[in-house]
Amino acid sequence: MNITKICCIGAGYVGGPTMAVIAKQCPDIQVTVVDLNESRINKWNDPNVENIPVYEPGLSGIVAEARGRNLFFTTEVDRAIKEADMIFISVNTPTKTYGAGKGQAADLKWIELCARQIARVSTSDKIVVEKSTLPVRTASTLKDILKHTGNNVKFQILSNPEFLAEGTAVDDLLTPDRVLIGGDQDAEGKQAIEALVNIYARWVPKERILTTNVWSSELSKLTANAFLAQRVSSINALSELCEFTEANIGEVARAIGTDSRIGPKFLKASVGFGGSCFQKDILNLVYIARSYGLNEVADYWEQVIIMNDHQKRRFANKIIKTLYNTVNGKKIAFLGWAFKKDTNDTRESAAIYVADHLLYEQAKIAVYDPKVSADQMYADLDYLNTRTVEENQLLVDVVQDPYEACQDAHAVAILTEWDEFKDYDWQKIYDAMLKPAHIFDGRNILDKGQLERIGFKVSAIGS
Ligand SMILES: NC(=O)c1ccc[n+]([C@@H]2O[C@H](COP(=O)([O-])OP(=O)(O)OC[C@H]3O[C@@H](n4cnc5c(N)ncnc54)[C@H](O)[C@@H]3O)[C@@H](O)[C@H]2O)c1
Repeated sequence: MNITKICCIGAGYVGGPTMAVIAKQCPDIQVTVVDLNESRINKWNDPNVENIPVYEPGLSGIVAEARGRNLFFTTEVDRAIKEADMIFISVNTPTKTYGAGKGQAADLKWIELCARQIARVSTSDKIVVEKSTLPVRTASTLKDILKHTGNNVKFQILSNPEFLAEGTAVDDLLTPDRVLIGGDQDAEGKQAIEALVNIYARWVPKERILTTNVWSSELSKLTANAFLAQRVSSINALSELCEFTEANIGEVARAIGTDSRIGPKFLKASVGFGGSCFQKDILNLVYIARSYGLNEVADYWEQVIIMNDHQKRRFANKIIKTLYNTVNGKKIAFLGWAFKKDTNDTRESAAIYVADHLLYEQAKIAVYDPKVSADQMYADLDYLNTRTVEENQLLVDVVQDPYEACQDAHAVAILTEWDEFKDYDWQKIYDAMLKPAHIFDGRNILDKGQLERIGFKVSAIGS
């Protein structure tokens, strides 16, 4: 089956970058990315590509190359669905905030809406690709909806979970460790798998394109995120032990990471993982395991989240304790708000929860982040509903200059590992702060010895 037109529903952090890269690598395929959110689509179409809504190194250049040639962003969802041979569903699948499974299960209402819309609009056979991260066995739900509400059109469902990491999305998409494609194992299913394999094979070596049955593919995505998050929680658990034993978590990580069975990646202790995926996907895994009565399996994975929540709270508590058990009225400078460097995404960022805890203790916070807007920061805090919108505005000051953020502060807290923080004039920052001047390095990126020589009192995770 020769694919000439692709539609992607959802122009977010996954839909935007993945489709931009497909369009770049396959100039003969027309790729149309659709979204209900008009302002998001307008940003993707902004004449200045630096204003596209997702910040990722290298992405604006790719959009500039392909947009208007074979890459299009539009709110005309029906038309794009109708015209496409292959439809990627890349909509959000957040944790449910109501009803059964509240707080754990994935909310699939947007997925179901997509399926119903595809069924209603389609007048020719389509391959529907699950790009969103979905609970294992979601494909059967999709199949059911498409089969019973469609216009006698044939649909093949594939699972093609996305493994990109924000901050390195473009590199991850151009040179992925692997591409995973799950589909039905009958002749038609295999044909659909082959059609998608042929797209990726334009730039991904064949041996890196793995094909499986649908269920393995769906479950592998949840499993990959669970394993990655588990490593972070494992090293973070030991960082606390290091702080009591004079062991150093950086040295411990290096010592264990050189064991080839363990490997060096993802062993950096921090204030805790964030991002839109790890927490929601593990909670979803826990929910699925419990729904099959597998309580030990569920408890095992739930501990990864419990540890992560503990690490964020512990970091905030350390700031309070070190500042003589009160932060009331004290200015604390936050460097970083994004959940990791090189992205403007703040979903589940540790900074939000650390800030919330300190604000509860009546601290005043000044935030500087090179890519996150003030509106986003206030929206993140308001979403928690801990205090009024006015109180958040009053207690949190968002500034455009890191030196201004640190001026007259009692403490600086590093919440995101942006490279630029390492190169600041830390003597100048010290001179402008109240004394004793404290630094809480939640990412272990600063040179502790150098800061101590300047006169800072430094608390770093795990040492
Ligand atoms: N962000 C990541 O790093 C990442 C990585 C791998 C997988 N994923 C998964 O990919 C999926 C999408 O994540 P994201 O970060 O891109 O989310 P996102 O919130 O950034 O984007 C989703 C978009 O879908 C749109 N949308 C929702 N319902 C729609 C509908 N019916 N019609 C048209 N548009 C609709 C929303 O308006 C939104 O713009 C999720 O399942 C997520 O778990 C995310």
